[in-house]
Amino acid sequence: MFKKVNPYELKENFFEQIGNNWALITALDKGQVNTMTASWGTVGVLWHEPVFITFIRDQRYTRELIENTKKYTVTFVDGNTYRKELTYLGTTSGRDEDKLAHVGFDYEIHGDFAHIHQGLLHIDCEIIYAGKFREEQFLDTDYLDQNYQNKDFSNVYIGKIVGAYVREEK
Ligand SMILES: Cc1cc2nc3c(=O)[nH]c(=O)nc-3n(C[C@H](O)[C@H](O)[C@H](O)COP(=O)(O)O)c2cc1C
Repeated sequence: MFKKVNPYELKENFFEQIGNNWALITALDKGQVNTMTASWGTVGVLWHEPVFITFIRDQRYTRELIENTKKYTVTFVDGNTYRKELTYLGTTSGRDEDKLAHVGFDYEIHGDFAHIHQGLLHIDCEIIYAGKFREEQFLDTDYLDQNYQNKDFSNVYIGKIVGAYVREEK
């Protein structure tokens, strides 16, 4: 059902996919799977590797799991079909409940990664660099004021893409 592809061959418009369709960032830690919605992210090349960079605040439960494993999967589902589910996964925490079960998403364990069945594309990442935004390094403080009123600066995870899988049929 899913075909492994070379990330360099992906044809998606990632501005549209990340910013408007939204992504799911999924962690698998000791058999536990949790996911969260993300509309910030970057796809590109760094240090000669294909990367997917994510920006995750400290308070996310997903972040806790990712910090343990240093791995995550970015999954894209059809944003029109699953808008309600994406919104739910982006407004409740897996600390309090099994969110995936709540929205009726199931998944398959794929090595160290969990792939949500409803996905159209899965991008498995291994973190090769982790950092955090710092107040003093904002050159345009509008972005600081608009996004970090509580000074809860995002962690920046540079994930080397170790697998990309596209759905072959619906
Ligand atoms: C559209 C949308 C986009 C979001 N993008 C991000 C993001 O890029 N980074 C982030 O840390 N949180 C983002 N969030 C918030 C998390 O998805 C939300 O806090 C979620 O409940 C965290 O779940 P967790 O505690 O189970 O990890 C977004 C939420 C929505 C609705």
